[in-house]
Amino acid sequence: MKILGIVGSRRKNGNTAVLVQEALKPFEMQGMETKLIFLGDYDIKDCNGCECCHDTYKCVKQDGMQEIYPIILESDAVVLGSPTYFYNVTADMKAFIDRCYCFEAFDENDRSVWMSINEAFGGKYACVVAVCEQEKEEDMGYTATAMEKFLEALGYRVVSTVKALHLFAAREALKDEKVLLEARQAGEKLLKTLQLREKVKAQFSRSASDK
Ligand SMILES: Cc1cc2nc3c(=O)[nH]c(=O)nc-3n(C[C@H](O)[C@H](O)[C@H](O)COP(=O)(O)O)c2cc1C
Repeated sequence: MKILGIVGSRRKNGNTAVLVQEALKPFEMQGMETKLIFLGDYDIKDCNGCECCHDTYKCVKQDGMQEIYPIILESDAVVLGSPTYFYNVTADMKAFIDRCYCFEAFDENDRSVWMSINEAFGGKYACVVAVCEQEKEEDMGYTATAMEKFLEALGYRVVSTVKALHLFAAREALKDEKVLLEARQAGEKLLKTLQLREKVKAQFSRSASDK
């Protein structure tokens, strides 16, 4: 199994990076393969809305997303994290989200009927890490919701959301035992969900072959 951490902050030593890596630790302790990517390392252009991806599930724009698409497709689960920039995700995260539109499919006569390629192949799992400086959750605005709604539309069930408040300076999260534990527990829940999926699949095929 492969687990992908995606960081929407350009601060590589920032709070989002600390917490996404904390959520990946339970997988690493099990010897599972994890990968961490910083969206800022890639040239991710905005979606044109050209709809060329219709039916092909591929984006025509030749930029950094072409490196990220296969990594997403081969990952069993995602830990998606962004700081709050003016009550929402960062511009890097929003560009990334929009460019995943190529993974959506719509009925040709009724666009209210749609699904993602992940749903077509059985669904995936995720957790969300949203970070902000202010103490009140309302000052985080739409950061967590923007990532949750995106992941659900992409066929991921979000098993945990970590809302990390009151973090400003880079690496401040390392001193916040409570939020570190929350991120670790979010990763553990994601891990247990994937382990349960494997158990159910094995039990189901055993039970089916008993007949
Ligand atoms: C452009 C910008 C806008 C921000 N907007 C908000 C905001 O709306 N609410 C908030 O609580 N914090 C806001 N912050 C603070 C960051 O969310 C906070 O410092 C966070 O810890 C940064 O995460 P990082 O260390 O992963 O980069 C903003 C910071 C920047 C640079």
